[in-house]
Amino acid sequence: MEDETRLSANKRRASLVIGASSAIAQAIIQHLIHPSESAKVKGSNRYHRIIGLTQKEPSDLIQDPNVTYLKTDYSEQSLSEHFQEQHELISQCDQAFICNGLLHLDTAMPEKSMSSINEKYFSALMRANAFVPLFCLSQLKSVLPKTSECKITVFSARIGSISDNRSGGWYAYRSSKAALNMGLKTASIELARSHPKVKLLAFHPGTTNTPLSKPFQARVPKDKLFTPEYVAQQLFALLAKVSPEQSIAFMDWNHQSIDW
Ligand SMILES: NC(=O)c1ccc[n+]([C@@H]2O[C@H](COP(=O)([O-])OP(=O)(O)OC[C@H]3O[C@@H](n4cnc5c(N)ncnc54)[C@H](OP(=O)(O)O)[C@@H]3O)[C@@H](O)[C@H]2O)c1
Repeated sequence: MEDETRLSANKRRASLVIGASSAIAQAIIQHLIHPSESAKVKGSNRYHRIIGLTQKEPSDLIQDPNVTYLKTDYSEQSLSEHFQEQHELISQCDQAFICNGLLHLDTAMPEKSMSSINEKYFSALMRANAFVPLFCLSQLKSVLPKTSECKITVFSARIGSISDNRSGGWYAYRSSKAALNMGLKTASIELARSHPKVKLLAFHPGTTNTPLSKPFQARVPKDKLFTPEYVAQQLFALLAKVSPEQSIAFMDWNHQSIDW
């Protein structure tokens, strides 16, 4: 009864975090559970639920009564079922974070030259870095009301910028993030017509201390290797100032635009 009163008195609000076990996603969830003091002042009286989609065991992740984890293998069937079953809650999302990303496999590392390009590694990265985020975005669009004000952050990477490519290499990762960026730009045109208040952010977190970057951290200066907590903080500060006029932005942790 007390809960019901709280629900009706406060505006309902939910956040969706996909790839919820990612080190950065866990820092985002932590921030959503315990917002900074300034964020609390703005949003403390609003009811807030967090839905996480993950392939990991939920019991290994941050636990809180307001967080619900749903297990998925990221197949089209599993994702559509979750979005349909959680339709009501997900339709209340005013922010979503798509954090999926893959850079290396047990059997393969980023290519230094064209001679290393192989189908298995290339397809795995295309699926995780481009197809899965874009399919999740399409599912989210299908449940969000047309008047919904939702900020959707999709983790991209500067390396997906074609104009910024000065050092070459890493064919599959670069190509998959460039494909993601093109998909997001295309989606922003469609969403501007159907859901004009939905904003997309293709976000580059900078080199962050996570399992994804672990094998490549040796030559990163200490002050250029960020903690997931710092990146989450920078992201929330950026989201607070995203322009309502812009349907999509490609930006980094330092709040700077990146050329597509
Ligand atoms: N760390 C960096 O330096 C860096 C730099 C630039 C961009 N990024 C981007 O930031 C995002 C977050 O990465 P992170 O650094 O936090 O790395 P992470 O801890 O390794 O997280 C990546 C997440 O992607 C999901 N994932 C893994 N394999 C997948 C697959 N085969 N299919 C679909 N999803 C899969 C997993 O989520 P679940 O286990 O929950 O399903 C995993 O937790 C990624 O998009 C990454 O490309 C990171």
